Amino acid sequence: MRNRQHVNVNAVAFETFTGEMPKIEPGRIIELEIGCADAQFLFERAEADPSRHYIGLEIREPLVKAVNRNAKELGLPVQAIFVHASHHLEKLLPKGSVRHCYLNFPDPWFKRKHRDRRMINEQLLRQLAPLLEPGGDVLMQSDVFDVALDAMHVFETCDDIYENMRGPWTFWKEGNPFGVRSWREMNCEENNMPVWRMRYVPR
Ligand SMILES: C[S@@+](CC[C@H](N)C(=O)[O-])C[C@H]1O[C@@H](n2cnc3c(N)ncnc32)[C@H](O)[C@@H]1O
Repeated sequence: MRNRQHVNVNAVAFETFTGEMPKIEPGRIIELEIGCADAQFLFERAEADPSRHYIGLEIREPLVKAVNRNAKELGLPVQAIFVHASHHLEKLLPKGSVRHCYLNFPDPWFKRKHRDRRMINEQLLRQLAPLLEPGGDVLMQSDVFDVALDAMHVFETCDDIYENMRGPWTFWKEGNPFGVRSWREMNCEENNMPVWRMRYVPR
């Protein structure tokens, strides 16, 4: 399937939510990936433990459809939601319901002039914090140092609601603790590219 590489994330159309709400069974643990693309990371998590919900948010609708088709074929509890996450995250899931949130290689926008398109911004992070379980956490990883640093800047600006697990302004150096890799992470490893990671917990 061919997918447009990027969409205009600033388009007015994304301000209205037209996707389907996730179907959540009470009592099941929720893992959330924002910007999931093909959701490889979530599919591998779901294979390892199918008792949880794995919710992927994605702004490219054809990818959302493909993920949901695959989930049905494989019988795995992965659901992709068509959404601009910064506009609508807070209404998608119950408060205090997310055990792990993944921000895996979120931005294809390397250039400074495209900063206003970046997915990780204060609007997103302020909606995310109340959705996390007490004791839940957020992993952010990127192969672009500027993108990682910008993301850290946003998290550290929100230090009233997030705590860096390694101390303020500090990267997580112990690698990816979740045992599975997204498509982009797999590519980085195969090409020996460095990956910058950070982990935060809600206060
Ligand atoms: C570079 S890809 C990384 C995909 C996957 N997480 C991985 O690591 O392989 C970033 C994804 O985030 C999506 N995205 C960007 N901005 C978004 C937004 N505001 N809301 C939802 N998805 C977004 C893009 O469409 C793209 O699929």
